[in-house]
Amino acid sequence: MRQLGIGIIGSGGIARNAHMPGYKACEAQGVKIVACSDVNPDTARLAADQFEVPHVFTDYREMLALDEVDAVSICTPNYLHMQPTIDALEAGKHVLVEKPLAMNAVEGHAMVHAAKRTGMKLQVGFMTRFQSAPQALKRFIEAGEMGDIYFARAQAMRRRGIPGWGVFTQKDKQGGGPLIDIGVHILDLTLWLMGHPKPTFCSGQTYAKFGPRAGVLGLMGQWDPKIFTVEDFAAALVRFDNGATLVLESAFVANQEAREVMNTELFGTEGGCSYRPCKMFFEKHQTLIDATPAFLPEVKAHEAEVKAFVNAILEDTPVPVTGEEALMTTQIIDAIYRSSELGREVPVE
Ligand SMILES: NC(=O)c1ccc[n+]([C@@H]2O[C@H](COP(=O)([O-])OP(=O)(O)OC[C@H]3O[C@@H](n4cnc5c(N)ncnc54)[C@H](O)[C@@H]3O)[C@@H](O)[C@H]2O)c1
Repeated sequence: MRQLGIGIIGSGGIARNAHMPGYKACEAQGVKIVACSDVNPDTARLAADQFEVPHVFTDYREMLALDEVDAVSICTPNYLHMQPTIDALEAGKHVLVEKPLAMNAVEGHAMVHAAKRTGMKLQVGFMTRFQSAPQALKRFIEAGEMGDIYFARAQAMRRRGIPGWGVFTQKDKQGGGPLIDIGVHILDLTLWLMGHPKPTFCSGQTYAKFGPRAGVLGLMGQWDPKIFTVEDFAAALVRFDNGATLVLESAFVANQEAREVMNTELFGTEGGCSYRPCKMFFEKHQTLIDATPAFLPEVKAHEAEVKAFVNAILEDTPVPVTGEEALMTTQIIDAIYRSSELGREVPVE
């Protein structure tokens, strides 16, 4: 059996909690993590010891020179997604890069272009798609059970959830606040369920009402308000070329009842649905029906994501979450930030 050698770029939280266990679960397919890297040598060593990885690097470019590395996972902070991705693709390695694709669409475009130029595979870490609820909804939508989907409402809203660690509050390293961090997940899920219609125009507004203020309660640790340079709330209306529209709301802090809302609702001419809770709504014979899928399988979404990446390489099939699809989320997010700055609707470019 052919061995598929994996390298890890950035061996922090998501690498050790999701990607590396995912590859370990693929060992029967000949997958082996042969190297890992991190600018912090202690972090790299910790990951290597935990997952029995033979080669450890502090400079990922040295790792990319190893012939036995066929593919890499890029698990660095957002501002370090583009360069390692392009370097890896140009070194002839397939890439699974964490979400969001990039800091902005200019970077994202360069990454997608590099994948096309080199012919290597580029998958993006929107693992929510692999959960069983959205997979079930997608089957109903593709079978036409919702009819024409003309509106969606997507929400990624925390009551008090500014992360108190990492670079989540720093615009220059993260690219933005909740919109680019958690809003991007629900935006991708919604676009996928809608079948990726082409976005045309967008009107958005962002706020920073709590992050820069001292003394606000933190349920996800305590951040430093003095270096809070991102939004803490964003709302937008996105138009598509098929006439559909999408309302998106994303917050790290909001005075709402729930601790967290992570949901998308789709409205179609024949039915509607929501993701969390997973439900569908129909009218049959002048009777309103609420349908709840039962006994959906338990799926480890991160593991399924890694497995799908591995299968795409081994079987030489297209990856299930493409750079082009992820670029669409980045273009919409750019447009929301631009619209908010200009105070008017803007084209999605
Ligand atoms: N899909 C998800 O559900 C999910 C969840 C969490 C994080 N993420 C994404 O994963 C990425 C990383 O997040 P995290 O929570 O693991 O952060 P983290 O801070 O725990 O890990 C990032 C690691 O990258 C390392 N690093 C920084 N610069 C580097 C470089 N030049 N070369 C090699 N390593 C370098 C850091 O030392 C750190 O160990 C982010 O883009 C985030 O959006 C996705």
